[in-house]
Amino acid sequence: MKIGILTGGGDCPGENAVIRAVVKKADKYGYSVIGIKRGWLGLINGEVEPLTNFSVSGILPRGGTILGTSRTNPFKKEEDVQKVMSNIKKFGFDALIAIGGEDTLGVAKKLFDKGVNVVGVPKTIDNDLSATDYTFGFDTAVSIATEAIDRLHTTAESHDRVMVIEVMGRHAGWIATIAGIAGGADCILIPEKPFDIKEVCELVNNRHKRGRRFSIIAVAEGAMPVKGTKLVAQDESVDAFGHIRLGGVGNIIGKEIEKRTGFETRVTILGHIQRGGTPSAFDRVLATRYGVAAVDLIKNNEFGKMVALRGNKIVSANLEDAIAKLKTVDLDLYNIAEIFFG
Ligand code: F6P
Repeated sequence: MKIGILTGGGDCPGENAVIRAVVKKADKYGYSVIGIKRGWLGLINGEVEPLTNFSVSGILPRGGTILGTSRTNPFKKEEDVQKVMSNIKKFGFDALIAIGGEDTLGVAKKLFDKGVNVVGVPKTIDNDLSATDYTFGFDTAVSIATEAIDRLHTTAESHDRVMVIEVMGRHAGWIATIAGIAGGADCILIPEKPFDIKEVCELVNNRHKRGRRFSIIAVAEGAMPVKGTKLVAQDESVDAFGHIRLGGVGNIIGKEIEKRTGFETRVTILGHIQRGGTPSAFDRVLATRYGVAAVDLIKNNEFGKMVALRGNKIVSANLEDAIAKLKTVDLDLYNIAEIFFG
C-alpha cells in the first residue's frame, strides 16, 4: 500500500503531528507514505518526497507543515485535473490523505467522485468545518488570542483605553467567541451576529459611567455591521476558491468608537501570529489521533470519509457532510458570552 499525503489551505499548528502519526502508524501496517509538496499544486506538478520514520522524527512540536501548502484548486482547469489523475497513477498512490479545511476537502470529495481513494483530516484554526466537534489548530489559535487579550487588559487598564483586538475567522467567529469568553472581553463581534456600532459605543459608555476606565472589544475579521453589511477586505483579489483576503474591520470599529465616545482607542490585528508556532498539547494529541485514525480508514477501505472528533471519540464522517455547510458559532454559546458584555 502506497499512501500520498498533502496539506492544503492556510497552514495550521498540528499539521506536522498528523504527518508524523500517519507515517508511524502506516509503518506498523507495512505501508509506505509519500509526501506531496504544497498541497494540490504538488500533485499537479508531480512534486513528492518519501517520508520515513526517520524523516518525521522530531516534527511533533513544530508549527507549519514540513510539506508546504498552497491554496491551489485543481478543479479551476480541466488540464490540472488530468495532471492530478495521471500523477496519482504515475506515483502509484493506492490512497491519498488530504489534510485541510473546506476547500482542500472539497477537492478531495471531487476526486473521490472520480474514483480516487481519498480520506480527509479536518484542519483549520477557524474551527468552521461541519461533522466534527473540533478541527486541530483551533485550540492553539484560541490560546494565542486569549493570551493577547490578557496582555491587552493590563495596558488598557494602565492607559484608560479601549482596546479592539481583531482575530481570524472568515465566516465563523469561533476564535473571537471562545478567546473572548476566556479573556473576559467586554464585547465580542462575530460574522454570525451583525453588529450595530451605536450599541457597541453605548456599551463602552455605560462601562465608563459605572467607573470602568477601559474596555476590550474582540472582533472576528469577518464581523459586519447591520447597516451597509459588507466584509472588510485588504484588497480586491480572490484566491483560487473565490475567497477575498479579510482584515481591517478592527481599524474601522476602533476609529468609530474613538470618534463616537471620545475614549482613546487602540487596535491590534493579531493576524498570522494565530497560525504560527508550536501547537498546544490538545492540538498535538488531537492531530496525532487524527493521523492514526486516517490510516485506519484506509486500512478499512473507508474512502470518501474524514476523521472527526465527537465528544471524546474519534469517528469517521462523510466528506460530503463535512463540506456541505460551514459550522458557525453556536448561538447558545454566544448568549453565554453576552452575559459578560459591558
Ligand atoms: O485558514 C483560515 C484562515 O486563517 C482564515 O482565518 C483567514 O481569513 C485566512 O486563513 C487567511 O489566509 P492567508 O494566510 O492566505 O492570508
